[in-house]
Amino acid sequence: MNRKIISSVMIGILLLFGGMVFLLSPWHQSGEEGSLAGLTDGNKSILEIKEPGKGNRPVKTFTLTAQDKKWVINDGKEVAAWTYNGKVPGEALRVTEGDVVRVKLKNDLNVPITIHWHGVLLPNKMDGIPGVTQNAVEPGDTFTYEFIANDAGTYWYHSHQQSSIQVDKGLYGSFVVEEKEKEYERDEVFILDEWAVDQERENLSNMGGMMMGAMSGDSEADTKQMYDTFTVNGKSGNAIKPMIMQAGEKARLRFINAGYQVHRLVFPEGSMRMLEADAEKVKSEDTKSNVLEIAPGERIDVEFTKPEEDAVVIGHEQGVDHADDMVIPVISTNDGKNGQQLAHATGNAAVKGTSYGSEKLIFNKTPNPDVTYDMDLSMGMDMGEGMSFQINNKTFPDTPPIKVKEGDIVKVTLRNEGRMNHPMHLHGHRFQVNAKDGKKLKQPVVKDLVHVKPGEEYEIYFKADNLGEWLFHCHDNNHAARGMVTVVDYEEVYSPFQLGGKEDNHPN
Ligand code: C2O
Ligand code: CU
Repeated sequence: MNRKIISSVMIGILLLFGGMVFLLSPWHQSGEEGSLAGLTDGNKSILEIKEPGKGNRPVKTFTLTAQDKKWVINDGKEVAAWTYNGKVPGEALRVTEGDVVRVKLKNDLNVPITIHWHGVLLPNKMDGIPGVTQNAVEPGDTFTYEFIANDAGTYWYHSHQQSSIQVDKGLYGSFVVEEKEKEYERDEVFILDEWAVDQERENLSNMGGMMMGAMSGDSEADTKQMYDTFTVNGKSGNAIKPMIMQAGEKARLRFINAGYQVHRLVFPEGSMRMLEADAEKVKSEDTKSNVLEIAPGERIDVEFTKPEEDAVVIGHEQGVDHADDMVIPVISTNDGKNGQQLAHATGNAAVKGTSYGSEKLIFNKTPNPDVTYDMDLSMGMDMGEGMSFQINNKTFPDTPPIKVKEGDIVKVTLRNEGRMNHPMHLHGHRFQVNAKDGKKLKQPVVKDLVHVKPGEEYEIYFKADNLGEWLFHCHDNNHAARGMVTVVDYEEVYSPFQLGGKEDNHPN
């Protein structure tokens, strides 16, 4: 090698190293620590917000220990996972509506973590947001979450510390609040996810992928290429356990998308009817569509009726890499035949979380808002680190907060003029989607996540009825990590916690 080549190689290595250090530093995207406008003003700490009395409700107690675990996705596909109780997904939690839920989190990992109760309406200090509602739980420490499970439905829990890394490595599980009068005897949960098994094998870390993304300037495309395996409940392809059901038997199937990609599941024709989206019942008698589209972070429950054939599958829509990994066989007898080899049914038009109106609305007619906020979801270029994902041209924690007072009616218009999907999720509240692309919906939908695709605009309304500091962010956690997070900031209260700091509080 001549000198010139050597020196340019050296410069290359130096630049790479510099970039690494830059990416690894926790607040590279946003400058200062600890300064989110609005989090620090207000008279009362979020820790002093009065909670509803718990009376003599039944108390359901769980312990979740976060630990390292080699997780086998399928033969020869093994990942170094981070787990709650040694499993991916973590321990499945089930309670009954009205129960008090008490969960002791123990951290046996060597990084700080939290638990966020995705979709659960609970007191702010139980929301699990490091630097906003609590300090991250340090290695060796414990933290106890306690709240009333008021609303039956499908929820999930996941770490909210550096979510783009921690949820990706397996720190998530299902949380089901059953109705007192259960309608379905058969009731199953399926959590969908994607993994980067080969990268893991080649010992390329997340950081490597991010570096590549940063260098090519298209972080999403590169991040998605890293994912080479789809999973259902932590398993892929023929490692997924078949459901055994008899012809005509009905079951409630609860789907949760814990990944970054939209997943479309194809059911046998006429076998599926949507029941709930984001824990809200929808009005649908319709079994015409057999394709269910689930956005990242979203939960959708369906009623499934086993068709006459012995073996059928619920499988990922074709035309996507790794679709064959995501397949749930449904068989009548466990005679060794399973549905895996069956061709997937072909799909009709897909239904999704906003396809049907909600049974119970928050507002019967379009209300007059006290607060309006236009949320422009866009992409920006940050010198040296590839794409940033912005809200109103800023990245977290510099994004403008949604400032409210208790009792306000808030209208948010979400607009996506970019090229990527943004599943936007609000903590601590449910909102009503009243209009899409400027047109009033005939059937408004109540949710806590709205999937805003390129070119789309949604008008949503909610009641500021849960004092606190609540995140509103993109549930593609890679976008959140790169800035697409803001806060619903109640004037009355402040957060006594700090972003960054010695606890390394890192909520996105
Ligand atoms: Cu699954 Cu901030 O949430
Ligand atoms: Cu996004």
